Amino acid sequence: MKVVITRRIPESIKQMLENDYNVYMWQEDNEPIPYELLLEQVKDADALFTNVSDRIDKQLLQAAPNLKVISTMAVGYDNIDIDEATARGICVGHTPDVLSEAVADLTFALLLATARKVVEAMDYIKEGSWRGWGPMLLTGQNVYNSTMGIIGMGAIGKGVARRASGFGMKVLYHNRRRREDVEQELGVEYCTLNDLLQASDFVVMLAPATPETRRMIGERELSLMKPTAILINTSRGSNIDESALCSALKERQIWGAGLDVFEVEPIHANHPLIALDNVVVLPHIGSATIATRMEMAEMTAQNIRLGLSGAKLIHTVNPDVYNRGS
Ligand code: DGY
Repeated sequence: MKVVITRRIPESIKQMLENDYNVYMWQEDNEPIPYELLLEQVKDADALFTNVSDRIDKQLLQAAPNLKVISTMAVGYDNIDIDEATARGICVGHTPDVLSEAVADLTFALLLATARKVVEAMDYIKEGSWRGWGPMLLTGQNVYNSTMGIIGMGAIGKGVARRASGFGMKVLYHNRRRREDVEQELGVEYCTLNDLLQASDFVVMLAPATPETRRMIGERELSLMKPTAILINTSRGSNIDESALCSALKERQIWGAGLDVFEVEPIHANHPLIALDNVVVLPHIGSATIATRMEMAEMTAQNIRLGLSGAKLIHTVNPDVYNRGS
């Protein structure tokens, strides 16, 4: 059986698959496999080891008649046509939970960096501008005792809320469904999106990318935020209307933004957001710790091994696939 791996992965993980399968691996670390090449490679593939930057659409699935398993090294799967995969009997696996704490850490890192101008301050030294201490030099926003509003209270949201309590923050949240269990466990408070936007010093976007969450923060929502508020996004770029955000930041309608994800990735140095001095941007590294990425890669390979042996995956995105024909 043939497994296609769309990015260079650590040798030990590749070995887990090479022991039993014929493996094709795209050799680049940081550059996606060209779509046309992937189309060619999946023609006789039984399984696909993929990631957030591959487009696994209907055309690609049509070109892969033998495909039984798609395993993505990510929790998010908005880049995969799940309905088409299910209709074709293809199991789709992903890697939730193992990355939640790492993403929560990065969310907090981005929040602190934006609030306290950490990146701007380092650039200030690097460019030789530091002449001495100044009373209002590089002053930011308080994090301790502030109010955080989390949009999307899943495992990552819970991790962020736990970290926030260490900073004495009040935590509000908005979620598709109310999470009374989390309210009891962590003392967070459910509210409407409007109330959350109006009351929060830090609005943290952690919702998955779905048709319902697409551009859920736009011009109207940004106008509800405090002029001192900071927007953090470590979920998916499509959840925020980027051009509305750019205008709000330029006009100082909100104070700042910390972004790890973008509507179209990668962004380049000439992206309009980069020119702004009230934004911190990162190249989609939410889960990027060595241990977490190794766990994610291992789970992605395990999902393939399980799927190809006819067993259920560790985490299946489309469990309906198991009921087809029964
Ligand atoms: C995910 O897992 O969905 C992240 O965005 C990639 O690390």
